[in-house]
Amino acid sequence: MTGSPKRVPIPRNGVDYRGKVVLAPMVRSGELPMRLLALKYGADLVWGPETIDRAMIGTTTRVNPHTSTVEFQRLPSNGQKNPALNPEQKASVIYRLDPARERGRLVFQLGTASPGTAVEAAALVAPYVAGIDVNAGCPKPFSTAGGMGAALLRDPDRLCAILRALVRDVGARFALAVSVKIRLLETAERTERLVRALCATGIAGLSVHCRTTPMRPREPAIRDQLRIIAAVCREAGVACVMNGDVTGRDEAEKLVEEYGVDGAMIATAAEKNPSVFRAEKDGGQAHWKEVVREYMRFALEVDNRWANTKFSLGQLMPGKSDECKALPKCKGYTEIVEVLGLEEELGERAAEVDKRMGLGPGKGESRAQKRARAREWREEHGEQSLKKPKVPEPSKEASGISSEAIEHMPAAPPSASAVSV
Ligand SMILES: Cc1cc2nc3c(=O)[nH]c(=O)nc-3n(C[C@H](O)[C@H](O)[C@H](O)COP(=O)(O)O)c2cc1C
Repeated sequence: MTGSPKRVPIPRNGVDYRGKVVLAPMVRSGELPMRLLALKYGADLVWGPETIDRAMIGTTTRVNPHTSTVEFQRLPSNGQKNPALNPEQKASVIYRLDPARERGRLVFQLGTASPGTAVEAAALVAPYVAGIDVNAGCPKPFSTAGGMGAALLRDPDRLCAILRALVRDVGARFALAVSVKIRLLETAERTERLVRALCATGIAGLSVHCRTTPMRPREPAIRDQLRIIAAVCREAGVACVMNGDVTGRDEAEKLVEEYGVDGAMIATAAEKNPSVFRAEKDGGQAHWKEVVREYMRFALEVDNRWANTKFSLGQLMPGKSDECKALPKCKGYTEIVEVLGLEEELGERAAEVDKRMGLGPGKGESRAQKRARAREWREEHGEQSLKKPKVPEPSKEASGISSEAIEHMPAAPPSASAVSV
């Protein structure tokens, strides 16, 4: 007689990762409008961008009266003193979520190196999310130097201690599932040993980016360790989600079948076009113009930070399109809505958001404001955070603080409303 397969019980407010095709955690590309877009096109779950525990600790929570989104924010120490900043600009939004539309489908990913701070940070967001995930895969020096990300793969005792603490002190308290995202180790034996140890911590899910830590994003994912990882997870009752070069829902479903895993996670393909979550039978991948229009609706609905909107539009639009070429000159939502020919539908809202956020031609930050931002960023994160590390070819995987500061904004620190710092 064969019993039903073992399964780590999914707590009341948690989610089962089985049978799901999900949006991967992505700094910058996994902000709220992109997550809402992925959900609209059929993603079953969405991971938010990695957020460092120390950046979350000390934030206050508020419901934005204009958007009904929940924001975890902090007032920079000089924000009170600087009259050049209006009250909304003073606060840095560290994490933003949509409690209604993401309900039961959002997984919060932590960058952490310590059980204590992991628990403290996760407890803040736990009432609003369906799962807490630990990033044990970021290969960047600023993450690994702090003992976070891929450094945890080399320190399994610490990683297991973090996961056990989260399961006990956050998972049990808030009835949430805890998961971990790892990369492959050099040999199947080493990966298997690690996965076995992780599965014994009480986690309900494990996602595996099928590249080793030194591998570059452009190198093809390697899948030959997947079956053994899936088998170890199955034995322990932990859901196993594969990641790496998955290009869309139909392919994801085939790969899940082929490798005996429980689900699949998509990053780069979804960053370019979140409609990859839509199956061919339901219409398949949408044209970029449709995707951009839907993106703009969400970005305006949630008052998305302008710099992030610009960045995401740059990912969604073909580089050669006239719209993409016009993007760098746009100073606010009204302008881009005109470029996209969406004035009739979105013009009014764009004007409102520009007004609220102080955007538009001639409304850029003054030098004093930029200097104030630079100062407050340094105060919060230390001089070091702005220095670009000497790495030959940085991968895109990044922890919140540094990818914003180092990778994408080398000339200036992130704006006061930078998310996922
Ligand atoms: C822009 C970008 C940002 C990323 N940020 C994170 C992150 O915050 N946390 C994380 O665990 N992985 C991060 N990753 C890695 C992805 O989640 C994923 O593991 C990797 O891109 C492989 O999946 P893919 O082949 O579908 O792109 C990021 C990747 C990209 C492209």
